[in-house]
Amino acid sequence: METVKLVADIKAKISKFKDEGKTIGFVPTMGALHKGHLSLTEASVKNNDITVVSIFVNPTQFNNPNDLSTYPRTLEADLEQLSHYNPDLIFIPEVSEIYPEPDTRKFDFGLLDRVMEGKNRPGHFNGVAQVVSKLFDIVNPDNAYFGQKDFQQVAVIKQMTQDLKLNVNIVSCPIIREKDGLAMSSRNLLLSEEQRKNACKISETLFKARNLAAELSVHELKDWVIKEINKNSYLSVEYFEIVNDTSLEEIKDWKELNNKVGCITVQVGKIRLIDNITF
Ligand code: PAF
Repeated sequence: METVKLVADIKAKISKFKDEGKTIGFVPTMGALHKGHLSLTEASVKNNDITVVSIFVNPTQFNNPNDLSTYPRTLEADLEQLSHYNPDLIFIPEVSEIYPEPDTRKFDFGLLDRVMEGKNRPGHFNGVAQVVSKLFDIVNPDNAYFGQKDFQQVAVIKQMTQDLKLNVNIVSCPIIREKDGLAMSSRNLLLSEEQRKNACKISETLFKARNLAAELSVHELKDWVIKEINKNSYLSVEYFEIVNDTSLEEIKDWKELNNKVGCITVQVGKIRLIDNITF
């Protein structure tokens, strides 16, 4: 496992691997790695000749400066954890390497960027698309791995890959959960002990909701989830939407013939946690 900081260096290494006919798997991360990221790394190592993991806290996707400054940074522990999974290259660029000049590109993802996270974090997905397109350009991967916890992000990245006609296969991997069900997230590190204990109510409620879907209408189920979680004084639901898993259009009736996913964001003190469940 080799760490690389400069764009020119990583490009040269990857170009050599490509000349040798090797396939490149890519796991973009913002660090503070947990088992979710490690499962993506494992999938990439298994299915590609070469695996590149990037660790880069991307400033352009934070619409809240406080969120950016408090985002957990645990580089040493990240490298230690990765060393057990045998990726080949760890790319750890400075902001000036990725953005030598401000990125002024504006992407249009239509509805994908206007609902849920897009609505509540204006500019967030534009920043994600900026950095992921730059990283794809640098790493030139055959396969890129993303966690399904960030369900809307995966939809946006798939759309971006299509719009920019990039030859990258987007692989979306299952949510990895803590023993009590809480979806793994770097932000879990920011929770107090009490907040952490109560946060499992989010997934617990989503699992119950999946069973209740046979008895309640879509509207009733949405109301039930929001009320159930808000009963816990540590938690406050920002939104819970049940959407078509590709277009992200709101589902009004269970009879609609498409895959349905319930996406939630809950505020736990100052920390926003997201999760989702398929119906
Ligand atoms: O999911 C994340 O950690 C980030 O949004 C990503 C994809 C690494 C882009 O900064």
